[in-house]
Amino acid sequence: IHVAVLMGGWANERPVSLMSGEGVAKALEERGHQVTRIDMDRQVAERIAEAAPDVVFNALHGVPGEDGTVQGMLDLMGVPYTHSGLATSVVAIDKQLTKQALVPHGIPMPGGRIVKSADLFERDPMPRPYVLKPVNEGSSVGVAIVTDDGNYGNPIARDAKGPWQDFDELLAEPFIRGLELTSAVVDFEEGPRALAVTELKPKSGFYDFDAKYTDGMTDHICPAEIPEQIEKLCLEIALKAHRLLGCKGTSRTDFRWDDTQGEDGLFVLETNTQPGMTPLSLVPEQGRYAGMEYGELVETIIAAALR
Ligand code: DAL
Ligand code: MG
Repeated sequence: IHVAVLMGGWANERPVSLMSGEGVAKALEERGHQVTRIDMDRQVAERIAEAAPDVVFNALHGVPGEDGTVQGMLDLMGVPYTHSGLATSVVAIDKQLTKQALVPHGIPMPGGRIVKSADLFERDPMPRPYVLKPVNEGSSVGVAIVTDDGNYGNPIARDAKGPWQDFDELLAEPFIRGLELTSAVVDFEEGPRALAVTELKPKSGFYDFDAKYTDGMTDHICPAEIPEQIEKLCLEIALKAHRLLGCKGTSRTDFRWDDTQGEDGLFVLETNTQPGMTPLSLVPEQGRYAGMEYGELVETIIAAALR
């Protein structure tokens, strides 16, 4: 088949998307498919129409690309595309809207509130430690953990470097001490399945952009060495979030688990509808754990788009 791999664009996660897109394009070529690489620009609709692919593989991350804009355009054009559709993307890209969609269905997520970045200089929005993050970024772009002794982002001060410099508003959430966990869901012909749970152990202590994309900076423990009941709960919740949000192809739900609190310590941070496909990314890794090579995973995601 002919696949147009849509990547890059002008989101903050552009470099990540180029890595995902190139990985996908190479794997498809190795498997004998025709590939057109499209680095998204303002003429993207014309370029897709000109390529006339059977399907678009959406390898975009962040805004625009993961937020429904590109999905709506492709809906109007009548071109099939991988991953989630417009409505799901609009909700899942926004961490606050995601809480509103999932928490009423019993999915545990930390309470959050939107704060004006300028107000952060005056007072803490909640007791420390807390996390500040843009509502609609990925790869930890703009995230800071504010603790009493500073830590990443330092105590808030006018001259401190932090996400309050680049974003007018931020989501503040209590910081959950403990483990960083993640679970991927993939849509197979017989239905969606959660693949595994991975623990991320960044050597720096914080799973930020560098820890995510620099080889050797984070240990990935797959399957995570956690009690069986917590592993089961993660898999169940990831699948439930995938279904509640209406995700397609694949999704990846990220968790924090306070291991001193048992099941009550498990919280979902977000569900990613366009999870990374880079060499260090977690969905391909869990795919391999489940017995599926990278290229097979790409084809499985495409098959879901064409069903
Ligand atoms: N936002 C990055 C690409 C991820 O979720 O993997
Ligand atoms: Mg994300």
